[in-house]
Amino acid sequence: MTEKRLPFTKAQLEEIIAQYPTPFHIYDERGIRENARKLNEAFAWAPGFKEYFAVKATPNPYILKLCREEGFGADCSSLAELILAERSEIRGENIMFSSNNTPADEYQKARELGAIINLDDITHIPYLEKEVGLPDLVCCRYNPGPLRQGGNAIIGLPEEAKYGFTKQQLLEGYRSLRDRGIHRFGLHTMVISNELDPNYFVETARMLFEVVVEIAQALGIRFEFVNFGGGIGIPYRPEQNEVDVNYISREIKRLYDEMIVPSGLHPLKLFLESGRYITGPYGYLVTKAIHRKEIYKNYIGVDACMANLMRPALYGAYHHITVMGKEHLPHDQTYDVTGSLCENNDKFAIDRQLPKIESGDILVIHDTGAHGYAMGFNYNGKLRSAELLLKPDGAVELIRRAETLEDYFATIDFTKLYEFSKC
Ligand SMILES: Cc1ncc(COP(=O)(O)O)c(C=O)c1O
Repeated sequence: MTEKRLPFTKAQLEEIIAQYPTPFHIYDERGIRENARKLNEAFAWAPGFKEYFAVKATPNPYILKLCREEGFGADCSSLAELILAERSEIRGENIMFSSNNTPADEYQKARELGAIINLDDITHIPYLEKEVGLPDLVCCRYNPGPLRQGGNAIIGLPEEAKYGFTKQQLLEGYRSLRDRGIHRFGLHTMVISNELDPNYFVETARMLFEVVVEIAQALGIRFEFVNFGGGIGIPYRPEQNEVDVNYISREIKRLYDEMIVPSGLHPLKLFLESGRYITGPYGYLVTKAIHRKEIYKNYIGVDACMANLMRPALYGAYHHITVMGKEHLPHDQTYDVTGSLCENNDKFAIDRQLPKIESGDILVIHDTGAHGYAMGFNYNGKLRSAELLLKPDGAVELIRRAETLEDYFATIDFTKLYEFSKC
């Protein structure tokens, strides 16, 4: 069980709303920092342990700055994410560039920043060499395909997923890199998303340890690191439990001592690139009820919509909802909580038991700190919300303003339209 706590009271939230109108995402700095420290402490034994925070989860430089201050690097997957890392003063090998179907200009930027380049495909070895030149250190992404059970709705089965090298391609790929004069290597994988079973991560470690030992022996190369990817889940539902990272770390240490130390590959650095685990539970989408509608079902219409948080519509994901000030009232109403998009899946909750909601009530949608704002879009001309940071002393910082209609129309030159209609 996980208690769905809030880092603010109703009165504090009302004060925040008086300054920043709903909807907005608000992130709890204290929660993020404490969690980051917990992860670093859990893996303190591991040589050169580093978490490369997955920028795609919360692409905001103020959040990246917090991550940098806690000793994290950045995992980037696009040009914009590389620039965000750079502008958050994360550079060099503190950036891991894990992209796929990568255009040359993105490799160019990654090279310019001195990032660790993680190749998604064997054909990218000559492509990278031709377009921007090979760096000293190269990493390859492993897709075990049918060799690994698992996957889920978010990431898909390994053999159906478009990412990575096959086992055979890894061997060929590292051989070709070695023959091109590369002597620094890493190995990466990302085979699961939002997984709550800690044993899954232990098995991923076993899989990567086996592969590095085999390839190092076959090719006579030395690996500097393995990157287990992200994918640590969070308890979106109150009846779920937090993943025990201390357990994962202990079990990985056992495997490290059994497999890596005797193989002569020690010290092998261990990297993670979690997003959701780091910030997910520490973000909240704050919205107000604006309409109640009773037809064949009962609906609560709020001022946020799927453009602010699309996980429920995309994956049927559960996000807990607190109605501020009504936490202790009986949850005896059954509602669909909806946004205003012209899409019937624009719902934050379906058939949810909640207290009776009136127009003007404040609803807090939990666990929106990762893959929340980040997935936003502008369908129906809906504007993306502000992002706020709740500081440990209770102050609130605006870390991204809300979009305006001017932003929405900024890419259209209306003057040409009028000139055209005059002819
Ligand atoms: C390559 C890669 N690394 C890391 C992540 C972060 O995953 P999560 O937020 O589930 O930890 C993702 C998510 O899509 C990813 O594609």
